[in-house]
Amino acid sequence: DDPELLAAFQARIDRGERIEPKEWMPEGYRKTLIRQIGQHAHSEIVGQLPEGNWITRAPTLERKQILLAKVQDEAGHGLYLYSACETLGISRDELFDRLHSGAMKYSSIFNYPTLTWADMGAVGWLVDGAAIMNQVPLQRTSYGPYARAMVRICKEESFHQRQGYTIMMKMAQGTPEQKAMAQDALNRFWYPSLMMFGPSDKDSVHSAQNMAWKIKINTNDELRQRFVNETVPQARYLGLEVPDENLTWNEDKQGWDFSEPDWSEFFAVLKGDGPCNEERLGARRKAWDDGEWFRDGLTAYAEKQAARRKA
Ligand code: ACO
Repeated sequence: DDPELLAAFQARIDRGERIEPKEWMPEGYRKTLIRQIGQHAHSEIVGQLPEGNWITRAPTLERKQILLAKVQDEAGHGLYLYSACETLGISRDELFDRLHSGAMKYSSIFNYPTLTWADMGAVGWLVDGAAIMNQVPLQRTSYGPYARAMVRICKEESFHQRQGYTIMMKMAQGTPEQKAMAQDALNRFWYPSLMMFGPSDKDSVHSAQNMAWKIKINTNDELRQRFVNETVPQARYLGLEVPDENLTWNEDKQGWDFSEPDWSEFFAVLKGDGPCNEERLGARRKAWDDGEWFRDGLTAYAEKQAARRKA
């Protein structure tokens, strides 16, 4: 890229201007945005699977309606993130292709199973809670379509987080067995939720450049710390124990000291060796293949209509 163009672009970012689809941008900026927004979109879509698993087994009709609405919201988030990504000059088909071939990632968290109803509480509370922590600052990200998509997504995620927390409350204040299920869900989802923020700052490849471009507003470790600070009191209110013996309040930093997740597990999940990687990707590939006749039908219909208009 031309150095003058690059400098002018950086100056726009530094002034806090938004970059819009048809405007000039460095190739690296476009590429990393496609990577991040695409990965984000895939996460929303694959993220329907762990909760979809419990729709037919929700304990009451009301819980079923709420869960159904929540999972549908995630589909919507995926769709507007794919649209935002398409403005960067990549087609949706290509994005799906990259997901299905394993060339593109989705969030590590969705490779963990949801074993009990209490997991619906833990996923809403912790996973959507972590998602909001990461996405609220992204409303100020430098790429216009991405920042605007985040506004509605954050509103909906905040409803999701609360619905999860109310499930946890109900379980934690229920019978001893129910409380034990809530504790077990917290135990299993705590560290995988901390991993959602990405590797520690020293291992984060993209942070420095992406923060300069204001694609990222905070580092991975900053957001992880914020998440722990907010979540620990919520766990205590529920009467549950965060599964970390090293958790201590640090007066100097006005935050909690906590144990790092097992990063070797994180990198294994990224490589495809998580508990559910095969199942998740298999479900997405099957959905794509099963939908082929429908996509073909839509295309044939659209072509017929277009030919008729011409005639
Ligand atoms: N799961 C899977 N891959 C991850 C994760 C994760 N939790 N965290 C980091 N990675 C990957 C990165 O994609 C990168 O790999 P790549 O170069 O092959 O793409 C590598 O690990 C190194 O990480 P970083 O350099 O720190 O990557 P980055 O700067 O992109 O930061 C982050 C990662 C924080 C997830 C960022 O991409 C982001 O903010 N994304 C938008 C939010 C998002 O995707 N949320 C999805 C989950 S929320 C939900 O869907 C409900």
